[in-house]
Amino acid sequence: MYVLFTLLAGLAILPFLVYIRFPYFLHDLRYILSGIRLSTRIGIYSSRKPCYTILDRFLDRVKRHPHKKFIIFENDVYTYQDADRQSNKVARSLSQHAELQEGDVVALFLGNEPAYVWLWLALAKLGCVPALINYNIRTKSLLHCFSCCNAKVLIAAAELKDAVLEVLPALKEQNVSVFILSKDCDTGDMESLADKIEKASDEPLSPAPKTNLTIKSPAMYIYTSGTTGLPKAAIINHQRAWLASCMQTLAGVRADDIIYVYLPLYHTAGFLMGLTGAIDQGITVVLRRKFSASQFWNDCRKHNVTVIQYIGEIMRYLCNTPKKDTDRTHKVRLAIGNGIRGDTWSEFLQRFGNIHICECYGATEGNTGFVNYVGKVGATGRVLPLLKKAVPFALIKYDTERGEPVRDSKGFCVEVPTGEAGLLVAKITKTAPFTGYANNSQQTEKKRLRDVFEKGDQYFNSGDLLKMDEEGFIYFQDRIGDTFRWKGENVATTEVTDVLVMLDFIEEANVYGVKVPGHEGRIGMASIKLTEGMEFNCSATHEHVKAYLPSYARPRFIRMQSSLDVTGTYKQMKVKLAEEGFDPSVTDEAMYFLEENEGYIPMTKDIYNAITEGSRRL
Ligand SMILES: *[C@@H]1O[C@H](CO)[C@@H](O)[C@H](O)[C@H]1NC(C)=O
Ligand SMILES: *[C@@H]1O[C@H](CO)[C@@H](O)[C@H](O)[C@H]1NC(C)=O
Ligand SMILES: *[C@@H]1O[C@H](CO)[C@@H](O)[C@H](O)[C@H]1NC(C)=O
Ligand SMILES: *[C@@H]1O[C@H](CO)[C@@H](O)[C@H](O)[C@H]1NC(C)=O
Ligand SMILES: *[C@@H]1O[C@H](CO)[C@@H](O)[C@H](O)[C@H]1NC(C)=O
Repeated sequence: MYVLFTLLAGLAILPFLVYIRFPYFLHDLRYILSGIRLSTRIGIYSSRKPCYTILDRFLDRVKRHPHKKFIIFENDVYTYQDADRQSNKVARSLSQHAELQEGDVVALFLGNEPAYVWLWLALAKLGCVPALINYNIRTKSLLHCFSCCNAKVLIAAAELKDAVLEVLPALKEQNVSVFILSKDCDTGDMESLADKIEKASDEPLSPAPKTNLTIKSPAMYIYTSGTTGLPKAAIINHQRAWLASCMQTLAGVRADDIIYVYLPLYHTAGFLMGLTGAIDQGITVVLRRKFSASQFWNDCRKHNVTVIQYIGEIMRYLCNTPKKDTDRTHKVRLAIGNGIRGDTWSEFLQRFGNIHICECYGATEGNTGFVNYVGKVGATGRVLPLLKKAVPFALIKYDTERGEPVRDSKGFCVEVPTGEAGLLVAKITKTAPFTGYANNSQQTEKKRLRDVFEKGDQYFNSGDLLKMDEEGFIYFQDRIGDTFRWKGENVATTEVTDVLVMLDFIEEANVYGVKVPGHEGRIGMASIKLTEGMEFNCSATHEHVKAYLPSYARPRFIRMQSSLDVTGTYKQMKVKLAEEGFDPSVTDEAMYFLEENEGYIPMTKDIYNAITEGSRRL
């Protein structure tokens, strides 16, 4: 009897023991199961001939729930059926007025609006491949993006006509057809498209032959946001498109959710994780032209949004808005994205309520990714030893000064110990391929790291420093370009930024390293945007950085800017600022210099000369 009793008691506390030992057991199990279901699903899609694409998924959704709301934009609502019909009209007018063949590349140059979705669907129906061009780029960069994927046709928004006119002669030389999404067009070398769409029938076209379509065929080109140099066109094949779209499933999006998409559709986050992910789930998308901190929650309330996306600084922008009584009045239950820092994460939850934040890590062209499905504050992902076997990756020692991985005496890379930051590299295999950049073998090669752990192996170089803790959580540390070295010490720009924005008069800070003649490495500099109505307090800043930062990490120069430039994905632009450096004559903006014993003093041409001539030591 006693034996039986202890046995029963033992069984009863077993789950409890498992919980103590493996607190994330259930989360892990759920994640693994959903991962297995997903790879089975994508396996089935690949084995079909022709393969099953997101367009096929969309058409199935139209059949299943034609009258469900698909896109809500400003005051317009479009059902799944409306979208199908609209895209038929677009496909018909394009096939009639542009000589398109299966596999041709068509560049889309427009902002977030429903037409973006119709155009993409229409191109997919015609078997063509869209190149999603960032609408902020101009001239040389625009031409580069256009030609590196060998596009035949350019379709641009009416409001971007001037940008197109700048490059029109060059496009015409390459016999490119240019369409403008307006009802008429007075420029001879371009054609209007909106009028042609309006007149076209909404009947489906006879399906494109798709004879050669496989899961490895390109589905689209997405440009990686270049904080340096010209953008590169990542080739997104159907498999990658599926993988990114399935992020919503992994994050726990359900069929009754409503997602808010305000990130640009020309990037992976907006297009694949937002739009096509929503099609996979068959849910409603509230589409917005641009992020607006003041309208964000109003939009969520008005449309009963349940899922939001975030990236980079957005969460901090939201936390920086004035507090309101209605901060917690909304239905948002899930936020999916990347790049939220630990302190903002806690502040966000405290302020806006119980929202599950699903932070994930991945690159548009990368061959690996992590998901923090547990919601552990600060971590960008979780890795189970099991999964590490399936998709081999490593965090390796990196020499920031020389800008390359550390190699041992045999010439191989060295993994960092648990808890230390290392460069993330992921083995390139059949199941984790690296498709590279279109027409840019040089940049493609640069991302490949060879002979990492044995002769002849190949790894994708993420360019990111991450660290892993003992529980298997992965933390983003820095982008390689975001670290500089001064006086033999590494300075992580994000860390310095975090310290600066603790001051109430500094709303935003962008920290970077600048070269000083006669010195190794780079010295710290910060561009800051002041909080409205407040002034820069030299002595408070000095005391603060002295209290929080080692001397080598303190910004020696501070530059005031009325706004800080960011890329389309809200990453800070550093390269141009770093090149302009601390020469006060390059700008009208005020600059300060940190004099070791005095604190921040206004920067002058004399100080600049003394530093560059070496008469003033740093
Ligand atoms: C590659 O790009 C260059 C210019 O960027 C262009 O002239 C060339 O036609 C492109 N080649 C292909 C195959 O797309
Ligand atoms: C453009 O088209 C013209 C006439 O159709 C042809 O002569 C020319 O070779 C083409 N140019 C290019 C770069 O394809
Ligand atoms: C399909 O592939 C075959 C053989 O690789 C090729 O001859 C044919 O031109 C391709 N068709 C299309 C439409 O690309
Ligand atoms: C949002 O939800 C409420 C209650 O669930 C409902 O009354 C309202 O009509 C919904 N709003 C929209 C725009 O669907
Ligand atoms: C600047 O900060 C110091 C505290 O560090 C404070 O005593 C001083 O009043 C501030 N100056 C202005 C102009 O706000």
